[in-house]
Amino acid sequence: MAGIQHYLQFNDLSADTYAYLFERAALIKKRFKGYEKHHTLADRTLALIFEKASTRTRVSFEAGMYQLGGSVVHLTTGDSQLGRAEPIEDSAKVISRMVDLVMIRTYEQTKIEAFAAHSRVPVINGLTNEFHPCQILADIFTYQEHRSSIKGKVVAWVGDGNNMANTWLQAAELLDFSVHVSTPRGYEVDQSVTGVRRSEHYKVFKDPMDACRGADLVTTDVWTSMGYEAENEARRKAFADWCVDADMMRVAAPDALFMHCLPAHRGEEVEADVIDGPQSVVWDEAENRMHAQKALMEYLLLGRL
Ligand code: CP
Ligand code: NVA
Repeated sequence: MAGIQHYLQFNDLSADTYAYLFERAALIKKRFKGYEKHHTLADRTLALIFEKASTRTRVSFEAGMYQLGGSVVHLTTGDSQLGRAEPIEDSAKVISRMVDLVMIRTYEQTKIEAFAAHSRVPVINGLTNEFHPCQILADIFTYQEHRSSIKGKVVAWVGDGNNMANTWLQAAELLDFSVHVSTPRGYEVDQSVTGVRRSEHYKVFKDPMDACRGADLVTTDVWTSMGYEAENEARRKAFADWCVDADMMRVAAPDALFMHCLPAHRGEEVEADVIDGPQSVVWDEAENRMHAQKALMEYLLLGRL
């Protein structure tokens, strides 16, 4: 429906709005740490719809909404009519008459777009095959918390050209930093999905070591995303050289950070000494999902406060 601000892709919001959200998330986090009440969404209800598994996304949205004074309704494919082929458009019309905000984790981006097109309330992408904007929102907030503005910095992406990679590329173009991408052949980023062309914001490297050289942030993700499990064996072979290890961190900038959206597989996409090492900020990154999404939910419902 016209006039509703959804959050379906990273570039649904402007650079200026992200600057506001990062500032707001920092304030919300400070209040949370100080046990200060922050009930800006009192009496509002968030529907959480999961068609794929989740730990962080569920806990961060659910705990976050309660901390804002609101409540949540949790639905999955298996326990709702979504799993029994009720049209997504009908589900959107019904659910959005009863709640104030909807988060969806699903497969195709077209599905969340169809839901949003028929929703009376803002819809948030909690991960699709194509994008994971809430994660990158938290990742950039985390980078800025540990270092400084991400503007002008280099992020190395090692691994699959997946939903996370796509979202990093959109963020780089919007917030003016660079992503150095290295994927195995056959698993490249699909530029038509991201809408991002190669430029100073997006460079491709055959060798993951070259992508990491001088990077300010090294990041990776699982070799096999949810929904692609049938390709598991082929992917294990193809991705064998795309494991972030101490050598890759050594060629990165001396103060480079390591991030991973989690869940992680030590010994596959990342070695244990990296993810559990001193440059890793994965636990802050996971926690910051909640603070950043609280700022996002407030913004979608109330605008700037
Ligand atoms: N990073 C992330 O989205 O984690 P979950 O799959 O546990 O929600
Ligand atoms: N790329 C992963 C991210 C999980 C949070 C997936 O889609 O399964």
